[in-house]
Amino acid sequence: MVEISAIIVVGGFFGDEGKGKIISYLSLKSQVAAVARAGVGTNAGHTIVYQGVKYKLRQIPSGFVNPNVKLFIGPGVLVDPRVFLQEIELTKTSERARIDYQAGVIEEKHIEEDRSSSHLKGKIGTTGSGCGPAQRDRAMRILKLAKDVPELRKFLTDVPYELNELIDEGRDIIIEGTQGTFLSLYHGTYPYVTSKDVTSGSICSDVGIGPKKVRDVIIVFKGYVTRVGKGPLENELPIDEVKKRGWYEVATVTGRVRRVAPFNFKLAKRAVMLNSATQIAITKLDLLFPEDKHKKRWKDLSKDAKEFINRVEEELKVPVTLIGTGPEVHDIIDRSERED
Ligand code: GTP
Ligand code: IMP
Ligand code: MG
Repeated sequence: MVEISAIIVVGGFFGDEGKGKIISYLSLKSQVAAVARAGVGTNAGHTIVYQGVKYKLRQIPSGFVNPNVKLFIGPGVLVDPRVFLQEIELTKTSERARIDYQAGVIEEKHIEEDRSSSHLKGKIGTTGSGCGPAQRDRAMRILKLAKDVPELRKFLTDVPYELNELIDEGRDIIIEGTQGTFLSLYHGTYPYVTSKDVTSGSICSDVGIGPKKVRDVIIVFKGYVTRVGKGPLENELPIDEVKKRGWYEVATVTGRVRRVAPFNFKLAKRAVMLNSATQIAITKLDLLFPEDKHKKRWKDLSKDAKEFINRVEEELKVPVTLIGTGPEVHDIIDRSERED
């Protein structure tokens, strides 16, 4: 019998929930053979803080922290060759980072259009990374693919084949989602969304894994909700209040200030449904309950923090298995072997 060994990590709100940190932790912890990046492309920025160094990655999967892990970018993901090659240097992963032949390529003209369009930059508030115009060209079937770019030649492979082979050998693989559920072109706050679907179904397709090969869908929520760019944000807090609560954040890719609202159970419930989540990861618990910063054991958490996590489990009816208590990869409570 074929082992079911793929784990999807998906964002539950509007992106920037801390998926990068959760994925890097999981990659170091278990016998993960590969991490494959899904989602739109260079519009996403994952932050990983590991061994005192802060990495901000827009292409290389967050599993790079484990030197034994293979790194893949699926055919459904856009590649900007300059960003990819820079990150290969930064993370020293040229021997193990691979792109699918059929990944779409972002060119300078896409970036220029994204940044100069009053609709995209002005009305929607895009990241200006060229993703929307490149997606349009893919739909028009005129977009260049990775196999057409000589500088990428040595990094190319058949990503769906490699991933499915690992799964069939019973190895664990992580599929790295980017953005968040309510930025989905289909399920989000249209038109204030990104240029494709980013929920778990689409994440499978981005890397060429069928849904029956997925064992778990880990949905990541931050302890509060953030959003960059335009569009509705229920219960949005004024900037003074955001600073007072210590929830002030700046976006990884664009440097824009993130808009902030308290944790939203209604959105979280819908996100669990849309992604068929089987586990929840909550990040930034330390910013809701500062006395819990850097804690690594459930039993050491404050009463208020435990009550919050218990309420999440009761309302969403899905176990909270990972809890972030700081930015570093190991600032985490791992409840997969429930000591409580
Ligand atoms: P996208 O794919 O762009 O949606 O990004 P992401 O989900 O990987 O999140 P991103 O790295 O953009 O933002 C999360 C921020 O929270 C980063 O600055 C992380 O270092 C930080 N972070 C993640 N988990 C924790 C946590 O548990 N506590 C604290 N204090 N910071 C955290
Ligand atoms: P685009 O994806 O650059 O076209 O931007 C469309 C919308 O999605 C804008 O509101 C962006 O701020 C948002 N967005 C896209 N990618 C991310 C991400 O990774 N994190 C947070 N917001 C994102
Ligand atoms: Mg981000």
